[in-house]
Amino acid sequence: MSASTADPRIVVLAGDGIGPEIVAAARRLLDVLGSFDYDEQLIGGISIDELGTPLSDDALAACRSADAVLLGAVGGPKWDTTDPDAPRPEQGLLGLRKGLGLYANLRPVKPFGALLDASPLRRERIEGTDLLVVRELTGGIYFGRKERRPEAAIDECVYTSAEVERIAATAFAAARRRSGGRGGRVTSVDKANVLETSRLWREVVGAVASRFDDVELDHLLVDNAAMQLVSDPARFDVIVTENMFGDILSDEAAMITGSLGMLPSASLGEGGPGVFEPVHGSAPDIAGEGTANPLATLLSVAMMLRDGLDRGPEADRVEAAVDAALAGGLRTADLFTGADGERRVGTAEMTDAVIAAL
Ligand code: IPM
Ligand code: MG
Repeated sequence: MSASTADPRIVVLAGDGIGPEIVAAARRLLDVLGSFDYDEQLIGGISIDELGTPLSDDALAACRSADAVLLGAVGGPKWDTTDPDAPRPEQGLLGLRKGLGLYANLRPVKPFGALLDASPLRRERIEGTDLLVVRELTGGIYFGRKERRPEAAIDECVYTSAEVERIAATAFAAARRRSGGRGGRVTSVDKANVLETSRLWREVVGAVASRFDDVELDHLLVDNAAMQLVSDPARFDVIVTENMFGDILSDEAAMITGSLGMLPSASLGEGGPGVFEPVHGSAPDIAGEGTANPLATLLSVAMMLRDGLDRGPEADRVEAAVDAALAGGLRTADLFTGADGERRVGTAEMTDAVIAAL
């Protein structure tokens, strides 16, 4: 390799629970694909234990100067508390998103053919589903003023039109890209019948739509959207929504793929490095057992290759390899249904199979 093409620098934030196991699987995969310069940093509960804070300034600075950030998961019962003054692992993740300006969270939901019977929803319902949740990630109730009084608590929800406008533009551009320039559709999800922030959201999304007249736009109230996601998921293309609705709807949508253990995500900002992480959490109940499903993380590596490192062809290979491993019948515990041809495997064996299929 020539001296001018340095290896991409990837900050690895393994975090808590199953985080270290699934991130180790991701690194094994990456090592087969090429040469990367890893920088391991702490986030979440382990960072609270070792450094007294869920995200240190040094860790954030390392992320800022990286080419991409790969994250496992944060949180666990050890750090669960209702004390408003105690540090929480999740603050590390939120601080990272805010600190890197990662306002756009992309969560693609497309069931693999081999898993059509692993979903709690009937095969006929989910066949043909191929949607993308575009979740606003640095605004809304997650980041508003918080206050705790003896007999009350307040979480403020604020959105500026600039925040809505940039995430709407991300969603329309994604719809256009996914359709190969033939249009596509954006469904904007809000609660405009109740919330002022939603009425602003609807107005601004409508205005952005006029710049993308090849893309269709419809608006759904979030309760209705939650219902349609399970009754007719194939009707959706791109869903754009605010931070908390996106959090909830993306877990719901994940079950279409059979398991939360399948869903990857990319969090992107303006120019700087993105964060790539599975949508699922730290699963403390199975941590350390070697049974966690690594596929959401391996698929997040694919998103990192495509959206973070501009290595699209390798991303395609990873996704095809995951498909092949599943088609071969391998299932981690979360996906195992006991059907003919299935074989129950752990994290390492599933990772081996994906690497072999590359
Ligand atoms: C997610 C997670 C986080 C969120 C938590 C861990 C703070 O649920 O990425 O969806 O709510 O955003
Ligand atoms: Mg969530």
